[in-house]
Amino acid sequence: MNNFKTMNQEEFFKKITAHAKEYGFIFPSSDIYDGLAAVYDYGQNGVELKKNIREYWWKAMVQMHENIVGLDAAIFMHPTVWKASGHVDAFNDPMIDNKDSKKRYRADVLVEDYMAKIEEKINKEVEKAKKRFGDAFNEEQFVTTNARVLEWKKEIETISHRLYGAMEKNDLADIKKLIEDLGIVCPISGTRNWTDVRQFNLMFATQIGSLAEGANTVYLRPETAQGIFVNYLNVQKTGRMKIPFGIAQTGKAFRNEIVARQFIFRMREFEQMEMQFFVRPGTEIEWFKKWKEERLKWHLSLGIPAENYRFHDHEKLAHYANAATDIEFNFPFGFKELEGVHSRTDYDLSRHAEFSGKKLQYFDPETNESYTPYVIETSIGLDRMFLAMFSYAYTEEKLEDGSERVVMKLPPILAPYKVAILPLVKKDGLPEKAREIMDNLQYDFMCQYEEKDSIGKRYRRQDAIGTPLCVTVDNQTLEDNTVTVRDRDTMEQIRVNVDELHEIIRKKISPKR
Ligand code: GAP
Repeated sequence: MNNFKTMNQEEFFKKITAHAKEYGFIFPSSDIYDGLAAVYDYGQNGVELKKNIREYWWKAMVQMHENIVGLDAAIFMHPTVWKASGHVDAFNDPMIDNKDSKKRYRADVLVEDYMAKIEEKINKEVEKAKKRFGDAFNEEQFVTTNARVLEWKKEIETISHRLYGAMEKNDLADIKKLIEDLGIVCPISGTRNWTDVRQFNLMFATQIGSLAEGANTVYLRPETAQGIFVNYLNVQKTGRMKIPFGIAQTGKAFRNEIVARQFIFRMREFEQMEMQFFVRPGTEIEWFKKWKEERLKWHLSLGIPAENYRFHDHEKLAHYANAATDIEFNFPFGFKELEGVHSRTDYDLSRHAEFSGKKLQYFDPETNESYTPYVIETSIGLDRMFLAMFSYAYTEEKLEDGSERVVMKLPPILAPYKVAILPLVKKDGLPEKAREIMDNLQYDFMCQYEEKDSIGKRYRRQDAIGTPLCVTVDNQTLEDNTVTVRDRDTMEQIRVNVDELHEIIRKKISPKR
């Protein structure tokens, strides 16, 4: 049983961070210097899982679509790109400082945390009632009739209405007033001695060129999308692309996030997988719906139950969008955004045409007219997808013999290693036979050879990194060329001929279509 669903955020992050570090998935950046907030390094197993997610996305988006091609634009871009895109003027978060602790917070997150505490009270009340009423408990009825729960829900609704209303109107004074009215204190100093709320730009700036040449401020890109927009014409012309077509890109993005305490959910340096799909104006809503469904299908193809995903359609849209949705994932700390699908109209191309003076249009041979294409964007954070898979997979199990195991039930296609090859003992020619089997599988699958420790301990280690299959080589193997294959999730073992291994592994890791 994945037992995260009963934990609070803090407990969850503690557990997951510890497992990620202990098993070489994720380390704090510059660990020997005690880390750097909201920056992480991927270890030997993490880098494989991350690469597998990236490849799974690339295959679905580029390899499986004739009309989508790839791109790898540079991280540094001409500074005017970010003027045109609106990031210089409007890529901000509201922040507030506590004058006593000198700590800086995102003002909206302070309020959201306050609401989360009320939500926790509701959950506790539900748990208490569950215990009290036993099997007769009807949760739906309880949360819609219990006076205390209803009062807390109303409180959340009022606060959220006021917060998001103030954010919408950029009413920073009212956000501060809300923090004061709720009596929110700084978690460090415990005081209410707050500064005014100010807007804080999230882009990292640096200088390019030597001073003699005239230094220029450049930004580390806060999204990969703009690299696609500025290359729209290059790709369309050289690839002779016909609308509708898409350009896909994966790569690093950087944001100076003020809140830095959610492990890899919100990082300062992270990776995005984005695709911009260029369409004829007037057809964008149809394409938006299609990409919404396509992207959900991609998530479901990994075999994680559908109830863990939901759409959150945006009611209030950014000024350049005419439709937008988030695909949310049921993280152990609640449903949160994993991916965005946005209908961005012709805003970006038009702005770049205006700022660069270049015509960024398409001549449509079918209608005999030129127009600025409209764009549907799909944008997913690779690290956030990693966290979704990692937290879903982490399972603590009590076994029949009373022992316990931690098993990472990762979708097999994403697992760092597909198969572990384990000689039962380190003698009698078993290691040589195991190496021979590994040689035959290694080109097609990530294999790990292990001969140290008891077989039980080796199974546990493979469970903890999510290896779907373990192949054990014993004395019988030398006689009849058969091995045992152990399944990570069921722990069942079957005896098969070595010649069948290739097909068994292939079937195991093949995703649902
Ligand atoms: N081009 C559109 C865009 O960047 P976004 O909603 O700001 O949209 C897209 O980001 C996705 O990138 C998010 O759904 C999330 O998965 C990921 N993401 C955004 N900020 C992140 C951060 N600080 N750390 C990790 N992932 C992040």
